[in-house]
Amino acid sequence: MKNIAVIGAGAMGNGIAHAFAQAGFKVQLIDVNQTALSIAIATITKNLDRLVAKAKIAETDKTQTLDNISTFTNINEGVEYASLVVEAATENVDLKLKIFKQLDQACPEDTILATNTSSISITQIAAQTSRPERVIGMHFMNPVPVMKLVEIITGYNTSKSVVEFIINLTKKIHKTPVVVNDYPGFVANRILMPMLNEAIETLYTNVAGVQEIDTVMKLGMRHPMGPLELADFIGLDVCLSILEVMHDGFKNPKYAPNPLLVNMVRAGKYGVKTGEGFYDYSKNQKAITVAAQFS
Ligand code: CAA
Repeated sequence: MKNIAVIGAGAMGNGIAHAFAQAGFKVQLIDVNQTALSIAIATITKNLDRLVAKAKIAETDKTQTLDNISTFTNINEGVEYASLVVEAATENVDLKLKIFKQLDQACPEDTILATNTSSISITQIAAQTSRPERVIGMHFMNPVPVMKLVEIITGYNTSKSVVEFIINLTKKIHKTPVVVNDYPGFVANRILMPMLNEAIETLYTNVAGVQEIDTVMKLGMRHPMGPLELADFIGLDVCLSILEVMHDGFKNPKYAPNPLLVNMVRAGKYGVKTGEGFYDYSKNQKAITVAAQFS
């Protein structure tokens, strides 16, 4: 396997492209938006520069990694020679189903199609293709260059040989694979999202403020980020969409998104990416915004 195509040049896509390219694979990074591709290459360069500055890699490794990445705005050209495609587009069911239909037609018939979805059914995505046994979930964690886990999700029809192949490939990019079955939220988000939702409920019911909730979990549980800071980092729109998938999939009220989360997303407060969520990222100093409403 030499050529790996990555669809989507956002935060996850550029991290995934970086991980494969640094491990020596040729990566075709595809995004319909040329600006997104330019930003992705700038981000990868910045992350490589940091590694060079810390003497974790040599300057030649940086050059080689960047040389391993080529960019495309046309999906058909980018996947022409791919042995594996990792789709990391926006977390939207209709968009992913459309992309997989297109990939099935554009890719060689033995290409493995993986999705970085954080909650959408692999089995549903695979059903859009004529090769469901070659469709699998590869769920990377953010920030990809730092996080060691790849949650490997086996769809109803994913073949054992494809699972084995992806396990070995994940190890080659120095990440740790964990194989799980295809049920809403898989494992990572099935456990993480109720915790984040409960932190929002704790704020919503005025038990404590943003800073207090985050400090309890950071200092009390040794979490690197408090739950509200983490929700902002992941994106409140993404958290809402994952909770909705689990609520809909299990029909269990314990996954119902808290009304404050729903309201914040409706108000366009998505967290870091929009400059404001539970914290305000538009100023040098993070200021709590929502706390005032609940104190
Ligand atoms: N890209 C690349 N490297 C990064 C980075 C980024 N975006 N952010 C931080 N780093 C690197 C830094 O360079 C630093 O490297 P060294 O150890 O070599 O010096 C290291 O990470 C630590 O960074 P900092 O010292 O700047 O900051 P920190 O100690 O606060 O760590 C963090 C930052 C790694 C993001 C840490 O806060 C953390 O682990 N947070 C939790 C992240 C998490 O839970 N991610 C999963 C989210 S859920 C998900 O992704 C799945 C989903 O479906 C929603």
